[in-house]
Amino acid sequence: MKRILSSFAAGLVAIALAGSAHAAGGAEHPHGPEEGFEFEGVFGKFEMDSVQRGYQVYREVCSSCHSMKLMHYRNLGEPGGPFYDPEYPNANDNPLVKGFAALDTITDATPDEFGDPVQRPARPSDPFRSPYANDQMARAANGGALPPDLSVIAKARHGGANYVYSLLTGYPSWDVMGDGEIEFGEEYTPHGGEHGDDEHELHGMLHQPQGQYYNPYMAGDTTPQWAGDPRHAPAGGFLAMPPQLSDGRVEYLDGTEATVHQMAYDVAQFLAWAGEPKQTSRKKAGVAVLIYLALLAGILWLSYKRIWRNVAH
Ligand code: HEC
Repeated sequence: MKRILSSFAAGLVAIALAGSAHAAGGAEHPHGPEEGFEFEGVFGKFEMDSVQRGYQVYREVCSSCHSMKLMHYRNLGEPGGPFYDPEYPNANDNPLVKGFAALDTITDATPDEFGDPVQRPARPSDPFRSPYANDQMARAANGGALPPDLSVIAKARHGGANYVYSLLTGYPSWDVMGDGEIEFGEEYTPHGGEHGDDEHELHGMLHQPQGQYYNPYMAGDTTPQWAGDPRHAPAGGFLAMPPQLSDGRVEYLDGTEATVHQMAYDVAQFLAWAGEPKQTSRKKAGVAVLIYLALLAGILWLSYKRIWRNVAH
């Protein structure tokens, strides 16, 4: 019995650890917010007020470049969603969801009688408004780079929400990167990761190519742009997305102070939720299954004892 119990315990520990294993590339290891995200781990839950604020950040900042084609407005009001209200079991009737949808103007799938596209306020049943009609327009507006769809970005990148958080908060400040050259050492030392870059402090100049921004968390290679000790080029790479967040960039509806940390934390949590809107119910079911299995194991053990009680062995 002891052996069974200990292998059961080992299994549980393995499950708990599996959630926190990340692979590291050439970039800094995404460290995430200091306090971590509550939704990680077996019993973790999304903080719904943060997911709500994250939607606001997505809508007011990110949605001008990034689509979320897999999301519909009604998803916001479904069970496990940030604006779910038990009074409106059908999310299409939820006044908040209706209100958010109506803020966005979209093109109706059916044109008018002359074949011209019809613009109208979105309804809960519509997919989120996309900023560009197609990928070519998106590239043309972003210096040739395509802003990826964010529907499942937290699933698509190693580090998930921690990566999104690190990327958004990881840029050097504008006054350091303003003229395209970043001086490492005096002016700027990236947030030291566990990879030991801070053991030998970097000294040298990093040249940012036109329309490209250095970020220590972006996968890439900085060697060609690095004037300094070639054995220790800065971790990370360049991307076509300029830094997006500055303090007060949004005015939160719930009055929370919109610091860079807060907005990055909220939007990362929102994107994690969007990547797995059913996580809350999945985990609830998982816990119920574990309890059920534990009870069943107990009953089986007792009946085994009872059945073999009088048999000599
Ligand atoms: C001005 C347009 C613009 C805005 C606004 C914007 N982005 Fe981006 N974003 C881009 C572009 C362009 C890329 C592609 C960069 C590349 O591949 O070089 C990108 C890439 C990304 C990536 C992927 C990086 C990777 O690993 O490939 C993430 C994640 C991201 N953006 C998140 C956000 C979030 C969250 C917001 C809102 C806070 C936001 N972006 C706002 C233009 C934008």
